[in-house]
Amino acid sequence: MNKILVTGGAGYIGSHTVVELINAGFKPVIVDNFSNSHTSVLQALESITKAQIPCYSIDCTDYHSLKEVFEKEKNIEGVIHFAAFKAVGESVRFPLKYYHNNIGSLVSLLRVMEEFNINPFVFSSSCTVYGEPETLPVTEAIPRSKVESPYGNTKKISEEIIEDYARQSDIQAVILRYFNPIGAHPSSAIGELPIGVPSNLVPFITQTAAGIREKLTIFGGDYDTPDGTCIRDYIHVVDLAKAHVRALEYIQKSTNTGFSELFNVGTGNGNSVMELVKTFLEVTGEPLNYEIGPRRPGDVEKIWSEVRKSREILDWTAQYSLKEALLHAWNWQKTLK
Ligand code: NAD
Ligand code: WQD
Repeated sequence: MNKILVTGGAGYIGSHTVVELINAGFKPVIVDNFSNSHTSVLQALESITKAQIPCYSIDCTDYHSLKEVFEKEKNIEGVIHFAAFKAVGESVRFPLKYYHNNIGSLVSLLRVMEEFNINPFVFSSSCTVYGEPETLPVTEAIPRSKVESPYGNTKKISEEIIEDYARQSDIQAVILRYFNPIGAHPSSAIGELPIGVPSNLVPFITQTAAGIREKLTIFGGDYDTPDGTCIRDYIHVVDLAKAHVRALEYIQKSTNTGFSELFNVGTGNGNSVMELVKTFLEVTGEPLNYEIGPRRPGDVEKIWSEVRKSREILDWTAQYSLKEALLHAWNWQKTLK
């Protein structure tokens, strides 16, 4: 397996994965419609990797355009599918936009892969499919729960589509359930580029410290957690990117076809919002204006991953610390000023 199609390869997680694919000897080909990314990412990727990376500006819901990419590139041997919309709040306001883009892209892509007999497939899913877990840490064996948003539902339905399809085809699918990706490439050449007011915690922290936002509101201080703030499993985006390489290597070694395997991709540790704020203050030495405010509707109280399966089967574990992830996020923020 050599040439890998990366849909959404100009986005936050996709761009970091393109770097790790090249580091591991793969040849990524990017497909992105730049609906949530900038073409300048391509130059940044070339400066980090010193490689020429083919990129097609097309929409993955468009079966015919996708087919043309597979025809033109000829020997695509595997696919990593990141392309999707991901804003939870927006998905509540515009559910059809989310179902069309996220489900439409997946189905078009699988149809084209079937036509070209391409089986290796890695899919971006989310810990959102666990909902509010009853036991912690969460393992892959816990059934998908009812999810809070149309966005979350697109991930749940996508997992089901892939599983149904795996029963009837030769696809070799790895579904990665990401916990909370944070941080940026240590070079500060690529990172997260939230459009408008960020809804995720770490970009909100870094934008507040940079003076772009006035104040961080911590959503809720009365949860049933040691310091009263919510707990998540924050994973450095470079570690997450490497999990995709391990997933491809796992598929490469596999002699089976017609399967769909789930893996958690987290650190295995939970950190509270307050711990994140304090760690940010400690590692950057920057002041941060924050206050505790009301809970955000729909938030899960606490969740973190069990990562035994990823460690044992994918031979993958997170390497970066929370401190490093926050420092890299801050270094990246400073380049955006
Ligand atoms: P991102 O928005 O930075 O990247 C997604 C990329 O896909 C963007 O470059 C966007 O332009 C592109 N895209 C969207 N729809 C497209 C389409 N129809 N055709 C072509 N390109 C399209 O998001 P990200 O954070 O890198 O997330 C990547 C994947 O991981 C998504 O599937 C997301 O749902 C999933 N995920 C993200 C998180 C997170 O917190 N960032 C957590 C769990 C899962
Ligand atoms: C983290 C914690 C907030 C902002 C979302 C999606 C999930 C996945 C990852 C894609 C929570 C608190 C946040 C702020 C705060 N994405 N917070 N003040 O909600 O865990 O997950 O992104 O699949 O599907 O739902 O991430 O970064 O928004 O929040 O106090 O201004 O930070 O309440 O406890 P979340 P987040």
